[in-house]
Amino acid sequence: MPRSVSVVGGGVIGLSIAWRAARSGWSVRLYDPSIGSGASWAAGGMIAPLSEGWPGEESALELGSASLDRWPEFGKELEVGAGVDLFTSESSLTVALDGADAEDLRTIAEWVGGQGRDMQILSRTEVRELEPMLGRGVRLGLLAIGELAVDNRLLLHALRQCVVDAGVECIARAVQSLEGLETDQIVVTAGVASPSVWPGLPVRPVKGEILRLRSRPGVAPAPGRTVRGSVHGRPVYLVPRADGIVVGATQYESGNDTQVTLAGVRDLIADAEALMPTIGEYELHEVSAGLRPMTPDNLPLIGRVSDRIVVATGHGRGGILLAPVTAEATLALLEGSALAEAKAADVRRFEKLAR
Ligand code: GLY
Repeated sequence: MPRSVSVVGGGVIGLSIAWRAARSGWSVRLYDPSIGSGASWAAGGMIAPLSEGWPGEESALELGSASLDRWPEFGKELEVGAGVDLFTSESSLTVALDGADAEDLRTIAEWVGGQGRDMQILSRTEVRELEPMLGRGVRLGLLAIGELAVDNRLLLHALRQCVVDAGVECIARAVQSLEGLETDQIVVTAGVASPSVWPGLPVRPVKGEILRLRSRPGVAPAPGRTVRGSVHGRPVYLVPRADGIVVGATQYESGNDTQVTLAGVRDLIADAEALMPTIGEYELHEVSAGLRPMTPDNLPLIGRVSDRIVVATGHGRGGILLAPVTAEATLALLEGSALAEAKAADVRRFEKLAR
């Protein structure tokens, strides 16, 4: 008999784990009342651990880089499995609009370089040569070649296709209690709902509003890569899509509220225009909000909390980025070993979670 596992939560993390486990011979049940409808649906799809690096955050950079390194193969397998093109960008460009931002970009470039990963500082002229549609206020750029972006909704489609093909049984219901699950092992991958099935998990919701823009005849082309920046201290990013641009994202701590506010949309539009002045000509196709499952130290929780239960949650702003390394690390835990590169995410750094 194959060993069996229940995966509780069908976002990008749960789907990735279910897929990898089924392919490794596990009998997998995936529980979610609405697969792929939470934070993974709202996401921008950036895979940018270098650009988000900062001195002192070595663990986040190591974990993120380990996952970035796995993304090309992980994505390729999904592309072949589902017959889609997932990748929408193969580099990212962070731009500075003032002197303080420019100083920050130099700090990131130097620190990330010191960790063995290469980033390039670009002058204002070089930035404009690369992305002519960016505004004249851009003073400096930081280019990360090899940082990727995917269409998150195609990713969810591909993962669903691949889990079904791998024989995963998808069960469309919410799990209120783990006690009723009869499989040998259980993995909790329920994002912001994780503490409701394993009380005490330090995961809290951080709301993010995001815009989906569509191109129209005659408008300036979308940037050729992910463009990131900071406007009035608010981070903003433009992620290219085949048919337009995704603009994200606000960050609010307001419980489980997922309503889109006028102020959030106003700020995103204004900040996006500061990066790309012609963006107002795009169609405003969709506004949405998701809840990021954040932890106190911004690293995910990946680890065993009992003989039968593993958690893989709390991915905060990095669920798409961290899917491949989380799937590998979780499969290792299910099979009685550990992935060294995921050590910093070990759930046991928070005491009293295991029972
Ligand atoms: N991953 C980007 C965000 O959470 O806004």
